[in-house]
Amino acid sequence: MRRKLVAGNWKMHGSLAQNKALLDGVLAGVADLGAMDCAVCVPFPYLAQAQAMLQGSKLAWGAQNMSQHEKGAFTGEVSAPMLLEFGCKYVLVGHSERRAIYGEDDATVAEKYVAAQKVGLTPVLCVGETLQEREGNITEQVVGRQIDAVIQAAGVESLAKAVVAYEPVWAIGTGKTASPEQAQAVHAFIRGKIAGLNKSVADGLVIQYGGSVKGANAAELFAMPDIDGGLIGGAALDASEFLTICRAAA
Ligand code: 13P
Repeated sequence: MRRKLVAGNWKMHGSLAQNKALLDGVLAGVADLGAMDCAVCVPFPYLAQAQAMLQGSKLAWGAQNMSQHEKGAFTGEVSAPMLLEFGCKYVLVGHSERRAIYGEDDATVAEKYVAAQKVGLTPVLCVGETLQEREGNITEQVVGRQIDAVIQAAGVESLAKAVVAYEPVWAIGTGKTASPEQAQAVHAFIRGKIAGLNKSVADGLVIQYGGSVKGANAAELFAMPDIDGGLIGGAALDASEFLTICRAAA
């Protein structure tokens, strides 16, 4: 039985004061959560705050992006070893906003995935199709290609130390959640594809769903056999919503 993982992706939101209130609120309810894992992925400048507040709690933390390079003349970038120094457990790689707005391609995302694993961070590999791709019936082709890039770079066994987040781009921040059946179909495709290469890796792989998950729809999504929790945007900025979603995963 896989343990579900609910992770908040705060995106570019927050302030020291807002984060404190939000994390205090989440921490107040987190101890009662049962057998599930939870985390928040915060903007880089707030990693120290997350570390100070969350150390020793059930709530893990991580970053939303990182450089594929370990160090060097890369102005404005943040390396995996730096994230590790701030106690990060997770790092998102290939979020659709990074792919769409910052032009990250599959090869770059795979390099980031490899660099994260090299220092012991757990990469959360984000995959998902746009509306146009879904309507063109190439969802599986797109998601398959995104997954193949990391398998090619790091081998299928590397997925034993990674998380996959399926986030259909058309469902992100739009209020349009994929139906549980729609999401399940893609999750089953992902797991099946990996099972074709290594069944035990596929069976153990946590595949999160992301895209307009809320307290009100989390339970029906998480009830699907291949949906192992969620990657939460907007609803992760509200402590009680986030806790409701975490409870649905326990
Ligand atoms: P929303 O939950 O705001 O749709 O965002 C999803 C997401 O992009 C999480 O990474």
